[in-house]
Amino acid sequence: MACLSPSQLQKFQEDGFLVLEGFFSADECVAMQRRIGEIVAEMDVPLYCRTEFLTGKEEEQLRAHGSSDYFLNSGDKIRFFFEKDVFDKEGNFLVPPEKSINKIGHVSPHQDASFLHTEPLGRVLGIWIALEDATLENSCLWFIPGSHTSGVSKRFIRDPAGSGPGTSFLGSEPVRDQSLFVPTPVQRGALILIHGEVVHMSKQNLSDRSRHAYTFHVMEASGTVWSPENWLQPTAELPFPPLYT
Ligand code: FE2
Repeated sequence: MACLSPSQLQKFQEDGFLVLEGFFSADECVAMQRRIGEIVAEMDVPLYCRTEFLTGKEEEQLRAHGSSDYFLNSGDKIRFFFEKDVFDKEGNFLVPPEKSINKIGHVSPHQDASFLHTEPLGRVLGIWIALEDATLENSCLWFIPGSHTSGVSKRFIRDPAGSGPGTSFLGSEPVRDQSLFVPTPVQRGALILIHGEVVHMSKQNLSDRSRHAYTFHVMEASGTVWSPENWLQPTAELPFPPLYT
Protein backbone atom coordinates (compact mmCIF):
# COMPACT_ATOMS: atom_id res chain seq x y z
CA MET A 1 0.00 0.00 0.00
CA ALA A 2 1.32 3.43 -0.92
CA CYS A 3 2.13 5.67 2.02
CA LEU A 4 2.75 9.37 2.31
CA SER A 5 6.42 10.31 2.40
CA PRO A 6 7.64 12.12 5.54
CA SER A 7 7.76 15.40 3.59
CA GLN A 8 4.19 14.89 2.30
CA LEU A 9 2.98 14.15 5.82
CA GLN A 10 4.73 17.25 7.11
CA LYS A 11 3.17 19.38 4.36
CA PHE A 12 -0.29 18.04 5.24
CA GLN A 13 0.26 18.76 8.92
CA GLU A 14 1.43 22.31 8.15
CA ASP A 15 -1.17 23.25 5.53
CA GLY A 16 -4.18 21.11 6.45
CA PHE A 17 -4.42 19.76 2.91
CA LEU A 18 -2.24 17.86 0.48
CA VAL A 19 -2.40 17.46 -3.30
CA LEU A 20 -1.47 14.06 -4.71
CA GLU A 21 -1.29 14.46 -8.49
CA GLY A 22 -1.69 11.37 -10.65
CA PHE A 23 -3.32 9.26 -7.95
CA PHE A 24 -5.83 7.78 -10.40
CA SER A 25 -5.34 6.99 -14.09
CA ALA A 26 -7.43 8.58 -16.83
CA ASP A 27 -9.15 5.21 -17.34
CA GLU A 28 -10.12 5.05 -13.67
CA CYS A 29 -11.54 8.58 -13.89
CA VAL A 30 -13.54 7.61 -16.96
CA ALA A 31 -14.93 4.56 -15.13
CA MET A 32 -16.01 6.71 -12.15
CA GLN A 33 -17.60 9.28 -14.46
CA ARG A 34 -19.41 6.54 -16.34
CA ARG A 35 -20.87 5.17 -13.12
CA ILE A 36 -21.95 8.66 -12.00
CA GLY A 37 -23.60 9.09 -15.39
CA GLU A 38 -25.53 5.86 -14.91
CA ILE A 39 -26.70 6.89 -11.44
CA VAL A 40 -27.86 10.30 -12.65
CA ALA A 41 -29.61 8.73 -15.66
CA GLU A 42 -31.56 6.48 -13.30
CA MET A 43 -32.28 9.36 -10.92
CA ASP A 44 -35.86 9.45 -9.73
CA VAL A 45 -36.52 12.33 -7.39
CA PRO A 46 -39.94 12.75 -5.79
CA LEU A 47 -41.42 16.14 -6.55
CA TYR A 48 -41.50 17.21 -2.93
CA CYS A 49 -37.81 16.40 -2.60
CA ARG A 50 -36.52 18.69 -5.32
CA THR A 51 -34.33 20.59 -2.94
CA GLU A 52 -30.94 22.25 -2.92
CA PHE A 53 -27.98 21.35 -0.75
CA LEU A 54 -27.48 24.43 1.34
CA THR A 55 -24.41 25.82 3.04
CA GLY A 56 -23.45 29.26 4.25
CA LYS A 57 -26.21 31.70 5.03
CA GLU A 58 -29.01 29.73 3.47
CA GLU A 59 -30.59 28.38 6.61
CA GLU A 60 -33.90 30.13 6.04
CA GLN A 61 -34.23 28.54 2.67
CA LEU A 62 -33.67 25.15 4.24
CA ARG A 63 -36.31 25.93 6.84
CA ALA A 64 -38.70 26.93 4.10
CA HIS A 65 -38.18 23.85 2.06
CA GLY A 66 -40.04 21.34 4.16
CA SER A 67 -38.14 18.58 2.42
CA SER A 68 -35.40 18.14 4.97
CA ASP A 69 -36.26 14.47 5.57
CA TYR A 70 -34.85 13.76 2.16
CA PHE A 71 -31.63 15.43 3.29
CA LEU A 72 -31.47 14.05 6.84
CA ASN A 73 -32.10 10.50 5.70
CA SER A 74 -29.52 10.53 2.95
CA GLY A 75 -26.78 8.76 4.91
CA ASP A 76 -27.41 5.27 3.57
CA LYS A 77 -28.86 6.21 0.20
CA ILE A 78 -27.91 8.09 -2.90
CA ARG A 79 -29.67 11.42 -2.75
CA PHE A 80 -29.55 14.25 -5.22
CA PHE A 81 -29.13 17.90 -4.38
CA PHE A 82 -29.60 20.51 -7.01
CA GLU A 83 -28.26 23.84 -8.07
CA LYS A 84 -30.58 26.79 -7.69
CA ASP A 85 -33.04 27.56 -10.44
CA VAL A 86 -33.00 24.15 -12.11
CA PHE A 87 -36.75 23.59 -11.58
CA ASP A 88 -39.77 25.58 -12.67
CA LYS A 89 -42.69 26.20 -10.30
CA GLU A 90 -44.11 22.75 -11.02
CA GLY A 91 -40.79 21.06 -10.22
CA ASN A 92 -39.93 20.27 -13.84
CA PHE A 93 -36.30 20.37 -14.89
CA LEU A 94 -35.33 23.60 -16.63
CA VAL A 95 -31.89 22.25 -17.55
CA PRO A 96 -30.79 18.74 -18.53
CA PRO A 97 -30.81 16.65 -15.31
CA GLU A 98 -27.14 15.69 -15.75
CA LYS A 99 -26.25 19.40 -15.55
CA SER A 100 -28.43 20.09 -12.54
CA ILE A 101 -26.63 18.32 -9.72
CA ASN A 102 -25.04 20.37 -6.97
CA LYS A 103 -21.67 19.66 -5.34
CA ILE A 104 -20.08 20.22 -8.70
CA GLY A 105 -19.30 23.90 -8.52
CA HIS A 106 -19.59 26.67 -5.98
CA VAL A 107 -19.16 25.89 -2.27
CA SER A 108 -18.86 28.83 0.13
CA PRO A 109 -15.96 29.00 2.63
CA HIS A 110 -16.39 26.33 5.29
CA GLN A 111 -14.76 23.70 7.46
CA ASP A 112 -16.01 20.14 7.04
CA ALA A 113 -15.97 19.78 10.84
CA SER A 114 -18.87 22.26 11.01
CA PHE A 115 -21.00 19.59 9.35
CA LEU A 116 -19.22 16.40 10.45
CA HIS A 117 -18.41 17.01 14.08
CA THR A 118 -16.38 14.66 16.25
CA GLU A 119 -15.02 14.57 19.78
CA PRO A 120 -12.14 15.16 19.78
CA LEU A 121 -12.00 17.40 16.74
CA GLY A 122 -9.78 16.60 13.80
CA ARG A 123 -10.77 12.97 13.22
CA VAL A 124 -12.43 13.49 9.84
CA LEU A 125 -10.49 13.54 6.60
CA GLY A 126 -11.93 14.63 3.27
CA ILE A 127 -10.96 12.77 0.10
CA TRP A 128 -11.50 14.84 -3.05
CA ILE A 129 -10.82 13.26 -6.44
CA ALA A 130 -10.65 15.33 -9.62
CA LEU A 131 -12.39 13.37 -12.37
CA GLU A 132 -11.61 16.21 -14.77
CA ASP A 133 -8.97 18.94 -14.73
CA ALA A 134 -9.87 21.51 -12.06
CA THR A 135 -8.62 24.96 -13.02
CA LEU A 136 -9.02 28.58 -11.96
CA GLU A 137 -11.69 28.93 -14.63
CA ASN A 138 -13.83 25.90 -13.82
CA SER A 139 -13.89 25.98 -10.03
CA CYS A 140 -10.81 24.37 -8.50
CA LEU A 141 -10.61 24.18 -4.71
CA TRP A 142 -9.18 27.08 -2.67
CA PHE A 143 -7.68 26.68 0.81
CA ILE A 144 -6.41 28.87 3.63
CA PRO A 145 -3.17 27.01 4.43
CA GLY A 146 -2.72 26.41 8.15
CA SER A 147 -6.32 27.28 9.03
CA HIS A 148 -6.96 23.80 10.43
CA THR A 149 -5.58 24.73 13.85
CA SER A 150 -8.00 27.53 14.69
CA GLY A 151 -11.00 25.51 15.88
CA VAL A 152 -14.57 25.49 14.65
CA SER A 153 -16.99 28.33 15.40
CA LYS A 154 -20.04 27.05 13.58
CA ARG A 155 -22.02 23.83 13.74
CA PHE A 156 -24.73 22.49 11.50
CA ILE A 157 -26.92 20.23 13.62
CA ARG A 158 -30.13 18.28 13.40
CA ASP A 159 -32.81 19.49 15.78
CA PRO A 160 -34.19 17.06 18.36
CA ALA A 161 -37.09 15.15 16.86
CA GLY A 162 -40.21 17.28 16.65
CA SER A 163 -38.58 20.46 17.93
CA GLY A 164 -37.71 22.39 14.83
CA PRO A 165 -37.44 22.58 11.09
CA GLY A 166 -34.97 19.71 10.88
CA THR A 167 -31.60 21.39 11.05
CA SER A 168 -30.05 24.52 12.52
CA PHE A 169 -26.80 26.41 12.53
CA LEU A 170 -25.10 27.11 15.86
CA GLY A 171 -22.62 29.98 15.82
CA SER A 172 -21.52 31.63 12.62
CA GLU A 173 -18.83 31.43 10.02
CA PRO A 174 -16.18 34.13 10.69
CA VAL A 175 -15.58 36.62 7.89
CA ARG A 176 -12.64 35.18 6.02
CA ASP A 177 -9.87 37.30 4.55
CA GLN A 178 -10.23 36.38 0.90
CA SER A 179 -6.59 37.21 0.24
CA LEU A 180 -5.55 34.24 2.39
CA PHE A 181 -7.16 31.70 0.05
CA VAL A 182 -4.75 29.83 -2.21
CA PRO A 183 -6.05 28.11 -5.36
CA THR A 184 -5.17 24.47 -5.96
CA PRO A 185 -5.63 23.73 -9.66
CA VAL A 186 -5.07 20.02 -10.31
CA GLN A 187 -5.17 17.63 -13.21
CA ARG A 188 -7.68 14.86 -13.75
CA GLY A 189 -6.82 11.94 -11.47
CA ALA A 190 -5.43 14.08 -8.65
CA LEU A 191 -6.51 13.34 -5.08
CA ILE A 192 -6.62 16.07 -2.44
CA LEU A 193 -6.55 15.19 1.26
CA ILE A 194 -8.57 17.71 3.28
CA HIS A 195 -8.18 18.07 7.05
CA GLY A 196 -11.58 18.32 8.72
CA GLU A 197 -10.88 21.80 10.07
CA VAL A 198 -9.09 23.47 7.17
CA VAL A 199 -11.06 26.35 5.62
CA HIS A 200 -11.76 25.75 1.96
CA MET A 201 -14.15 26.71 -0.80
CA SER A 202 -14.70 26.63 -4.52
CA LYS A 203 -15.92 29.45 -6.70
CA GLN A 204 -18.74 29.32 -9.14
CA ASN A 205 -17.89 27.59 -12.38
CA LEU A 206 -18.66 30.24 -14.96
CA SER A 207 -16.73 28.50 -17.72
CA ASP A 208 -18.25 26.18 -20.29
CA ARG A 209 -16.12 23.28 -19.02
CA SER A 210 -17.44 20.90 -16.39
CA ARG A 211 -15.33 20.04 -13.36
CA HIS A 212 -16.56 16.75 -12.02
CA ALA A 213 -15.13 15.55 -8.72
CA TYR A 214 -15.89 12.64 -6.43
CA THR A 215 -15.63 13.38 -2.74
CA PHE A 216 -16.23 11.54 0.50
CA HIS A 217 -15.00 11.53 4.08
CA VAL A 218 -13.30 9.01 6.32
CA MET A 219 -13.05 9.12 10.11
CA GLU A 220 -10.54 7.74 12.57
CA ALA A 221 -13.12 5.81 14.60
CA SER A 222 -10.88 4.60 17.40
CA GLY A 223 -11.44 6.76 20.47
CA THR A 224 -13.74 9.10 18.53
CA VAL A 225 -17.34 10.09 19.27
CA TRP A 226 -19.38 10.88 16.16
CA SER A 227 -21.68 13.69 17.30
CA PRO A 228 -25.28 12.49 17.62
CA GLU A 229 -26.20 16.05 16.54
CA ASN A 230 -24.61 15.66 13.12
CA TRP A 231 -27.11 15.84 10.27
CA LEU A 232 -25.62 12.67 8.86
CA GLN A 233 -26.15 9.58 11.00
CA PRO A 234 -25.35 5.93 10.41
CA THR A 235 -28.36 3.66 10.25
CA ALA A 236 -29.00 0.06 11.27
CA GLU A 237 -29.28 -0.86 7.59
CA LEU A 238 -26.00 0.79 6.71
CA PRO A 239 -23.67 1.67 9.56
CA PHE A 240 -20.54 3.58 8.60
CA PRO A 241 -18.46 0.84 6.94
CA PRO A 242 -15.15 0.18 8.70
CA LEU A 243 -12.05 0.29 6.49
CA TYR A 244 -9.98 -1.61 9.05
CA THR A 245 -11.26 -4.07 11.59
FE1 FE2 B 1 -15.75 20.66 2.26
